[in-house]
Amino acid sequence: MTVIATSSSLGLAARVASILSHELIVAEEKVFPDGEKYVRIPRRVSGDAIIIHSLHPPQDERFVQLLLTIDAVRGVGASRVIVAIPYLAYARQDKRFLEGEPVSVGVVLKSVEAASADALITVDLHKPSSLDEWLRIPHANLLPVQHLASYFLGKLRDPVVLAPDKGALARAQLAAETLNASFDYIEKTRDKITGGVSILPRQVDVCGRDVVFIDDIISTGGTLIAAARSVTSAGARSLYAACTHALLISGALDKLYAAGLKEVVATDTVPSPVSKVSIAKPLAEAIAEFLIG
Ligand code: R5P
Repeated sequence: MTVIATSSSLGLAARVASILSHELIVAEEKVFPDGEKYVRIPRRVSGDAIIIHSLHPPQDERFVQLLLTIDAVRGVGASRVIVAIPYLAYARQDKRFLEGEPVSVGVVLKSVEAASADALITVDLHKPSSLDEWLRIPHANLLPVQHLASYFLGKLRDPVVLAPDKGALARAQLAAETLNASFDYIEKTRDKITGGVSILPRQVDVCGRDVVFIDDIISTGGTLIAAARSVTSAGARSLYAACTHALLISGALDKLYAAGLKEVVATDTVPSPVSKVSIAKPLAEAIAEFLIG
């Protein structure tokens, strides 16, 4: 089997190839003067190929690169093409919230399948059931919550894990099990008399405790900054944040530190200054399972 790396996930692909002891081929990439993308796989491939290519910004460009790469890998002789998209862009538009909108995640997934992928692996998809909904090829969604939580083992005092919304409560529970901590989610409530809004944990008292926020994505950081302000005013001792996909748009990391976060930790699905937890091993294991199965 051959691991195909693109500029989008070079480090992660190299780590996976090393774990699996498979050959690594780095795709050649360039941009034509008119902006169109060019991809070339510089060698023939025999047997199966795994493309590792994340769709972080500029996501539209990377999306086109991915589709071209799948076709190029097929063209150099791969018998099966497994596509690993550690960060799958457009996943948050998973339904038509308003009349006239697309289901963007469906468009992305169907395109990858149409480009002739034989299997798809992603990590911490915003709504995991999107895979079943839109793909006919075999697929898997890896959840690295326990890996992220393990990063904090032995570093926290009386910890509480908080999800920034109710939808992420199961994620907070998983992390809390690893850390032997309590967990809760942040709830926005409006005072019926004053009209003031408070964003606070629903049940757990954070006073004097270390708080770990856990989320799938940190994009602008807005969600966590609001949550950090609330728990700071409720007396939390130290604040930490862990996420799978650190997009960190528009100076988000600086803003998070300014809001009182002591440390932010992420996986390497998106290369970032805080990508301290690698998903290479679980990804390599998932790839190996596909190859056997
Ligand atoms: C929302 O549904 C996600 O789980 C994240 O909470 C959100 O995408 C984070 O975005 P931001 O960092 O811009 O607040």
